[in-house]
This record gives sequence, C-alpha cells and structure tokens, in this order.
Amino acid sequence: MSKVKLLSGEQIPLEMHKIRMVQKVNLLPVEERIESMKEAGFNTFLLKNRNVYLDMLTDSGVNAMSENQYAAMMQADDSYAGSETYYRLQEVLKDIFGLDQFLPAHQGRACENIIAETLVTPGSTAIMNYHFTTTKAHIKRRGGTVEEIVPDSSLEINSDVPFKGDIDIDKLNAMIARLGKDKICFVRIEAGTNLIGGQPVSMKNMREVSKICRKAGIPLVYDASLLSDNLYFIKTREAEFADVDLKEISREIAALMDVTYFSARKLGSARGGGILVSDEALFHKMRELVPLFEGFLTYGGMSVREMEALAVGLNETMDLEVISQTPIFVEALCNELLAKGIPVVTPPGGLGCHVDAMAFCSHVPQDQYPAGALAAAMYIASGVRGMERGTMSEERGDDGVDKLAEMELLRLAFPKRVFTYSQVKYVADRLDWLYKNRTLIGGLKFVEEPKVLRFFFGRLEPVGDWPEKLVVAFRKDFGDSL
Ligand code: F0G
Repeated sequence: MSKVKLLSGEQIPLEMHKIRMVQKVNLLPVEERIESMKEAGFNTFLLKNRNVYLDMLTDSGVNAMSENQYAAMMQADDSYAGSETYYRLQEVLKDIFGLDQFLPAHQGRACENIIAETLVTPGSTAIMNYHFTTTKAHIKRRGGTVEEIVPDSSLEINSDVPFKGDIDIDKLNAMIARLGKDKICFVRIEAGTNLIGGQPVSMKNMREVSKICRKAGIPLVYDASLLSDNLYFIKTREAEFADVDLKEISREIAALMDVTYFSARKLGSARGGGILVSDEALFHKMRELVPLFEGFLTYGGMSVREMEALAVGLNETMDLEVISQTPIFVEALCNELLAKGIPVVTPPGGLGCHVDAMAFCSHVPQDQYPAGALAAAMYIASGVRGMERGTMSEERGDDGVDKLAEMELLRLAFPKRVFTYSQVKYVADRLDWLYKNRTLIGGLKFVEEPKVLRFFFGRLEPVGDWPEKLVVAFRKDFGDSL
C-alpha cells in the first residue's frame, strides 16, 4: 500500500496489488440481518459467514494470499517425517529471525499451550505488556496468574504516544523486586498489542526489557503474531530504523528474546504457528510436547501446503509495501471516523480500527456489554461483522461477578489485502449513521454462558426491543437501500 496525493490535494491509500481471484459476498436487507443476529444469539462469532457482507471479525486465517504463496503450495512435500517442506520453512525462519531451533504447531494458542506447559508452575506469575485471551487462559489453566504492565497512559483511549504497547520499565523493576525472580515464570512482550487497540512496542523498550530479564535470569517470551504491523510502526515511528531493513529489525528483536512464537494465521498470511527457542535445554523440553499435542516434529499439525505458503508469506512480510496495507487502512478509517466525531482508539494502530464503545454507547451500563451491543448493532446497520473486545471477552470472576474490562472496544479488523478503499468508505458511512442513532442501541445479557472463553460461543439477548427500533430507523433514513 502507498499513500498518493490526488489533484484535489486529498491523500488516499492506493493498493499496490491487483485482485485476480474474488469471492462473492452477500449484503442482506436489514430485515434479514436482524434475523441473522437473533439466530446468532447476538454474538458476532455465531453469525454464518454467508450472511456477512464484510467480515471484519479478525485477520486470523483470512488474509489474502499472493500468487507466489499459491504456487508454493503445489510443491509441498507430503511426508509424515522429514518433509522437505519443513526444512524450507526452517531456512526462511532462520533467515528472518536468525534462529534455527524451530517447533511447528497448528496455531498460535497451541504454541501457548506448549510454552505454558513448560514454563508455568502453580502460583507463578507471567508478566506482560498486555494479555491476549488465549494466552491468559493457558496460563490460568496451569495455576499461574497474569500481570499487565503497560504504562497507565496506554489505557487511555486517545493519546499521542507512538508505542502504547511498551512495557512500563518502572513497573517491571518494581514487580521483579516484589515477587522475586523465582515466582515469575516469564515476561512476555506481545507485538502489536491486540486487546488495547493493536498498539506497537518499540525496539528501544524491547532492548531495555531484555536487559532487565537477562540480568534477573527470567525467560523473555515474544508473541510475534502481530509482528508485521509492529515492524511497520518501528520503521515509520522509530527514527533510528527509518533506513533499516525489515529483516534486520526482525533479527534484532528475536536476538533479544529467549522464545519467539507466532500464529501463522496472522503472521505470514497462512494458517499454522510455531515456536523459535534460543536456549537448547528449553528447546528440548518444549520439543517433547510437540508430538504429543501437535503432530510429528516436521509438520506439527500444519498441512504441508500451508507451511509452503507460510514460508513465502514470511518472506513477503519483509516488504514494507506488502505489510503497510493494514496500518494505512486503519489510519484512513480512523481519520474518517474522527472527522465525524466518532470515538476511536488513537493513535491508529495495526490489526483494525478500534471504536471506543464505552463513549459511543455511554448510556449502556458496562455489565450490559456496550462493545458487544455495538458489534450487534453494527452488523444490523451494515452487514459488517466486527468483534467485541471488552467485558464479554473477559472471564467472570470466581464470585460470579463480571470482571469489567479496562476498555470496551468494537474491533473492525482488516484482513491483509482483502478489502478495497470503497469498502472502507462504506464502513465509515454506516458507523456515522449508527453514531447519529446511538441512543437507540441498548444492552445485552447472557442467556447461555460458557465458563471458559465465553465470548466465542456464548449466547445473549437484547435488553428491550432496541434492535427492532434500529431497523425502523434504518428504513426511514435509507429507504429501500441495502
Ligand atoms: N497471540 C495473539 C497476539 C493473537 O492475536 C492471537 C490470535 C493468538 C496469540 C492466538 O493465535 O488464533 O492462531 O491460536 N488472535 C486472533 C484474533 C484470534 O482474532 O485477534 P491463534
């Protein structure tokens, strides 16, 4: 992606690829959209994709692949053990991260399972910039706890801090002093910090954290799932790296860490995952678990075709023009929304545009899930499927009381190279309409609530008949338009 200036002076995002394979999508009439939402228990995870116009739920496993990735899939070496595909992927990883002790896994959370099984002991604490849902669940499952130490200012919706994902160094030092190094199972840095709005981590911060962890003898784990966005921001926001090759940046990051893992559903635009380990003893410990949970060491639950696509996709991640589409689209959508007075997380990050549901739906109490309600309303208003990232995505406390999230966000994710600029404009327009009609949006309550990761398949119902009122207002304003 590039930014170009039009004759009018307006600067627009310009796609640096052309589309040669397409998928038809459906935009249902609003009356059918409300029915689909009811069927889905007001949980966007439970919508059928055939009823979705733009799937902005996630970028996970749904990024557009390049012609070279598809071509590579044809040469996959289908063997249970010793597949040539594994060695090709390992070579690419070594080239990008400078490490060759690689364990394949079927996706990111499978890596987290192995890492937690190896490092987390009951009563221990994992310290991190911010948790991700599956990461935390794996740590808690083994009796560990999670402490998050981004600076307080990173939890403010609007700021001009370029790296809101940075770890607060004072908090880190204080926590190590308070808990003692033996009680800390690892420190984790998540690239492109997902749950606080896809916010990046600076190299400066990673260097400092690594120094502290090495001195204290605490393993440092890097979640590189959102590395491509983070690389873009290091390159464009951290002056020292303006002219540094993306591969060089990646290698420096990996060298600061003890363990680097990733979801290849995000990084590399394929499907799968993997762990790179620098310490040999730790590598051997983790390696024992791969055949147990994933599959043999040379495929780890991945299809060899996906591994070939991943090897090419990882190389393409080293191209700024390839990885810039998401951050540039996020910025374009955020700027359109800000111009209309709609509250979004700033500065714009990677992954998606994050709408501040707490402000958007300030009249909806937090225990009625304003971000979930906004996600449902957005689907009804537009056929666009986003994801709740707020209290619904938290686990209920042991006392049965909801643990209120620090932020209530509607995430509108941008799968890489999937959407066009006119679709970005459509999203902005429908959100604008929704914002003007926001008082119509009401809350949600659970009617079926799973104990673990409830947001995935829990079912809810609206408090009152607000969805019907929204449909009436839509028809009034848009006539017979879709
Ligand atoms: N770490 C981060 C930062 C993630 O964003 C994800 C997945 C994972 C780990 C787990 O990887 O899905 O391959 O098992 N995030 C997706 C999302 C699900 O929609 O943000 P996985």
